[in-house]
Amino acid sequence: KGEYHVMLLLVSLLLLLSSSLVEARGRNVEFNGTLHCYGDDYKRYPMTGVHVALFEEDRGFDSWWDEHDLLDVYVTDENGTFNLEGYHYEFWHSPTFLIKVEIECDETSEWQRACNDVELKKQCSESAMPELSHYKVAKFSHLVEYDPSGNNDNYRMRYEQLECEFGWRKVYHGGNIEYKQDYYPGLSCTGGLCDLRCTLPSE
Ligand SMILES: *[C@@H]1O[C@H](CO)[C@@H](O)[C@H](O)[C@H]1NC(C)=O
Ligand SMILES: *[C@@H]1O[C@H](CO)[C@@H](O)[C@H](O)[C@H]1NC(C)=O
Repeated sequence: KGEYHVMLLLVSLLLLLSSSLVEARGRNVEFNGTLHCYGDDYKRYPMTGVHVALFEEDRGFDSWWDEHDLLDVYVTDENGTFNLEGYHYEFWHSPTFLIKVEIECDETSEWQRACNDVELKKQCSESAMPELSHYKVAKFSHLVEYDPSGNNDNYRMRYEQLECEFGWRKVYHGGNIEYKQDYYPGLSCTGGLCDLRCTLPSE
């Protein structure tokens, strides 16, 4: 009878342990925001019809056998707005998420003609992959959840109103917004843990 009680205690301890681990390693997340590109005229053009994708991030050792997992895709509307949500479970650690942007290069698109971003222009002018010769795609990523301080306790359930931008760099100066003459080539986002430009080291 005593053995039975010890067994029961062990089983319930195991259950308690595994359920707390599951809680620690499964995460729900929501991202929303807008995507814009600045033109030569400093005007901010909403990037319409762009695929914004939410991925679960696998970096370092993990990425040897585990690719980034696609969780959600959203095609931006006329205002460049996107909404993404996902859930992911990782066995070894709490998952982190990133967003990727895929732009189908289109010379007839008004915002793409106005957009003043060197990296986007470069990717769209490079020769298309042979098997996809009928269209070109420019790809960018942003590690919204990368915290430069290394504090992973900052992860949020929801990242609202991310401002993701291409082209001219916007800076806050004494409470006013100024547009600097230099730019970050490629995607930058504010409102996440990683502000401004924050791409994957390997990409
Ligand atoms: C993001 O979601 C919040 C809360 O649901 C909402 O208030 C906000 O307008 C949304 N923003 C965008 C850009 O969709
Ligand atoms: C885009 O923004 C305008 C102005 O705020 C709004 O009237 C319109 O409904 C928005 N479009 C979409 C698809 O949400």
